[in-house]
Amino acid sequence: MNVFGLDVCTVCIPIIIATLTVGFVTLLIALRFYVAISCGVCKNNRTMEGKTIIITGANGGIGKETARDLARRKARVIMACRNLETAEAARKEISEETGNNDIIVKKLDLGSLQSVRDFAADILKTEERIDILIHNAGMALAFKGATSVDGIELTMATNHYGPFLLTHLLIDKIKASTPARIVIVASELYRLASVNVNKLNPVGSFPAAYLYYVSKYANIYFARELARRLDGTGVTVNSLHPGMIDSGIWRNVPFPLNYPMMAITKGFFKTTKQGAQTTLHVATDPELENVSGKYYMDCKERGLSNAAQDMEKARKIWEESIKLVKLTDSDPKI
Ligand SMILES: NC(=O)c1ccc[n+]([C@@H]2O[C@H](COP(=O)([O-])OP(=O)(O)OC[C@H]3O[C@@H](n4cnc5c(N)ncnc54)[C@H](OP(=O)(O)O)[C@@H]3O)[C@@H](O)[C@H]2O)c1
Repeated sequence: MNVFGLDVCTVCIPIIIATLTVGFVTLLIALRFYVAISCGVCKNNRTMEGKTIIITGANGGIGKETARDLARRKARVIMACRNLETAEAARKEISEETGNNDIIVKKLDLGSLQSVRDFAADILKTEERIDILIHNAGMALAFKGATSVDGIELTMATNHYGPFLLTHLLIDKIKASTPARIVIVASELYRLASVNVNKLNPVGSFPAAYLYYVSKYANIYFARELARRLDGTGVTVNSLHPGMIDSGIWRNVPFPLNYPMMAITKGFFKTTKQGAQTTLHVATDPELENVSGKYYMDCKERGLSNAAQDMEKARKIWEESIKLVKLTDSDPKI
């Protein structure tokens, strides 16, 4: 048989195919193994008994695994979720597995300013303290954009403006619970974007997927400016990248790209349990009690790009965000 001008015997073809297949599978296994051993692990076993921890988006993905671990550490865990059905199923599963009955589900849709206000009012009424607030929830669209009920681009509304407003509304109770922590799940993908301070509500202006990177960049600016403003209050603020994780965040990748994407996420991305490690490290590690304004990946502090350290830009984004979330004179200021 003639293949690309070479004379290849018929019996050689299955051998070549078998060799290539074994080579490819070995490569996949090696990459998978590399992903497993290069993953940071939260090593401390600190109990969180007596601590009240709010975690947004805890009904699935990284948030659910974070909630599971914190429940195992005996924290009072408040799962702030928009889908009460899946949240209740997750609560039941975690409660049965960990024996922790102090897990509460509360309604929160970060894409709605009113829902954020309702959630915060409920928390301020029912909770005596907030020791840790974990901004975990996030969403990404693919090509087609969307707008929130408040007229804000939906990815920015959910990933940045909702958490921004929520932090303001809860800050007095967090400050009254010191030492307290605010943990912001951002993404290393921020490096693919830039934030235009003159277009902080970018409705219809970019492919929707790009706005996910912008929103994660906004998370980092928010974390740094919040840390600066809360310096000396006993409340620390740190942001993090959880790794590339096989979670629901990829669910909006459209057909037919969803199939290769699925192969990549299943083959090479970390599990949601691995994805929760850096959040857990930043939320619980005793050595980070006084550490604020830092960025973490694989349970280690990492550097940010020079642009992400531009505090003047962080301040401008903050000022514009105050206007977009319609903070009133009677709302707490930070
Ligand atoms: N996966 C990755 O590779 C990766 C990489 C870097 C950063 N991150 C970040 O990690 C965080 C967790 O994401 P994930 O990977 O675990 O994705 P996920 O499986 O899709 O989980 C996201 C969670 O956020 C919730 N959520 C989305 N929109 C919401 C809204 N409007 N109000 C309240 N909750 C909302 C989702 O609830 P529903 O079930 O109702 O949708 C879900 O519980 C996100 O901030 C994401 O940006 C992920």
